[in-house]
Order: sequence, then C-alpha cells, then structure tokens
Amino acid sequence: MKMNPWTLSVLLLLAGPLGADPDWHVEYPDSFCVVEGSTATIPCSFTHPSVMHKVERVVWCRNREYCIPPVFFGYDSSNVRANSRFLYPGDLVGNCTLKIIKTVKKDAATYRFRFETNGDKYTGPRGVRVKVTDGEDVKVRSSVTDNVVKEGGQVTLTCTSACSFHQLDVHWYRNGHALSEKGPALHLSSLTNDDTGNYTCSLDSSRQKTSAPWSLIVVVDEGRYARRVAVPVVSVVLAVFLLLLAGLVFAKRHAQKKASEVIQKQEVNCKQEAVGASEEVSYSTVHFKRNSSRSAPGPEHEIVYSEVVH
Ligand SMILES: *[C@@H]1O[C@H](CO)[C@@H](O)[C@H](O)[C@H]1NC(C)=O
Ligand SMILES: *[C@@H]1O[C@H](CO)[C@@H](O)[C@H](O)[C@H]1NC(C)=O
Repeated sequence: MKMNPWTLSVLLLLAGPLGADPDWHVEYPDSFCVVEGSTATIPCSFTHPSVMHKVERVVWCRNREYCIPPVFFGYDSSNVRANSRFLYPGDLVGNCTLKIIKTVKKDAATYRFRFETNGDKYTGPRGVRVKVTDGEDVKVRSSVTDNVVKEGGQVTLTCTSACSFHQLDVHWYRNGHALSEKGPALHLSSLTNDDTGNYTCSLDSSRQKTSAPWSLIVVVDEGRYARRVAVPVVSVVLAVFLLLLAGLVFAKRHAQKKASEVIQKQEVNCKQEAVGASEEVSYSTVHFKRNSSRSAPGPEHEIVYSEVVH
C-alpha cells in the first residue's frame, strides 16, 4: 500500500503509543447462525502484546468461561482428535477461524477461543453464540404481495430463515431447475412469460434445506399489449383500407370514363349502322341489335298468320 508521507507520519504518530503493544484480544462475531447439516466457518482473530511471546497452543471450547484444557467438545491443538467435526484452519499468529462441519442441533452453544504463549495465556471473554437451525423455516419471500405480476415488471425474491445467510451459499431453482443466480436475493426484471413458474431456494447445493415453492405468474399487460401489438396492426389495417379506397375511387372513375367512351362508340356505331357501313362494330353489339330487330317482327308475322287463318 502506498501512502503519502503526511498520512504516514500521522498514522505513525497515532500508532506509536497505541499500536506498539497490542492488547490481549480475541475478536469474533457476537453470534453466528448455521443451518443444521451445513458447515459453520466462524471468523476469528486474536492479538497479544509481545512478539517475544510465541503462541504454542490454541483451544476452542464450549460453554466455559475459560477454555482450560482438557476440552471434550471443541478443538485443542495439543490434542487433535481424529474424525472431529471441529477443525482449525486458523494459525498461531492471529487467525483463529474455527470450522464446524456437518453441524448438529447440539452444536448450538457459546464458544470461546483461548491461546497460550510461552508467556501468558488468554481466553476471549465474550465468546460467539452459535445458533443451529433445522432449515425447516427456509422460505421464499417476495417484494410483491401478489403472485401475479405483469409482463415487463420486476420482482425480487429473498431466501429467508432464522439465519441470515451472508455466510451461506443460497441456490435458486425454477420448477426444480437450478438458476445461475446465487445469493440471498434473486432479482427478476423485464418479466416475460418464461419467468412464470415455481421458485424455490436452498441453503446449500445439496438441496437438503429447500424452501416451499413460491409461484410466479407473469400475465400479459393489456395496455402494453395494445401499445405494442394493436397499434401497428391498426395502422396497417388503416393503411390497407385507405389504399383500397383510393383504388376503388380510381377504378370507378376509370370505369365511368370507359363506359362513356363505349356509349359514345355505340352511338357512333348506331349512326354508322344506320348509314349501312358498320364494318368496325363489335360482333356482339351487331348481333344483339340484329337479334332484336329480327325477333321483333316474329310475333307480328304469327299474328299476321293467325289473322290470315281466321
Ligand atoms: C483466516 O483463515 C481462514 C481460513 O484459512 C481464511 O478463510 C480467512 O480469510 C483468514 N482470515 C484472515 C483475516 O486472514
Ligand atoms: C407450481 O405449483 C403449483 C401448485 O403448487 C402447481 O399446480 C403447478 O402445476 C406448478 N407449476 C409448475 C410449472 O410446475
């Protein structure tokens, strides 16, 4: 670490009288919560006044004011028992971390740390209260009161129990499948229907302590749906309708124009026919006109015949 000279001198000035001779001291958390069956790694540190004194023995004991050996329930560096669930990953210079593996209910107690130097011996008086929960109370809590959340919304799920899990591995599952997110809180945002499902959390990867499921239902937000889907659809329909309308108007005008041309042509044809030079007249027109002019006399002739018969 780099410091500017001023800071350094201030620190030295402060540290001089205080830091030269650290007190006999053990620092551990007031309490530590662990779920039954999992491993408790209890942080701990210690100091003593003189580097001249060498630490020779470290002891962790249960529910005793001074950890004067022998200890039957805990750890003693001078008498390490095989298969003990109490491990000491700490050292002899300042780290007194204790590990209790496969915790059981009866591990719940107040633990103290003692260290013995070639001079004096000291036990940290306060101790750490270890709480062991059975994990039955593991629950998923939600930031929303309702299980039904609108699409695009968000929700935060929290895994809770009697323990606070800052030291624990919390795993999350949706419909039993592990999610990549880990930790006590699961943030779900920009929700889609894919997020619908039953959520559970567990306090370790073995899934021994798993919560009851919390079901999330993501519903389509009608307003959002209207904005996102209906508006473009309506626009397209409107555009198509306008195009059709324009097309119709154009077609109508075109047809009228055509019709008037035909009428004009027919008029011309009629005149030409009347004149007797109707080579260019369309066949149907001519046919129709001839037909009508032929059939017309028919009945007249019959009538005439009947008249003749009488
Ligand atoms: C003390 O030891 C434990 C176990 O080895 C380690 O996890 C922890 O970081 C150490 N603490 C400090 C302050 O070095
Ligand atoms: C979620 O759980 C409920 C009841 O607990 C069940 O009816 C539903 O089918 C489950 N959903 C899924 C996707 O597993």
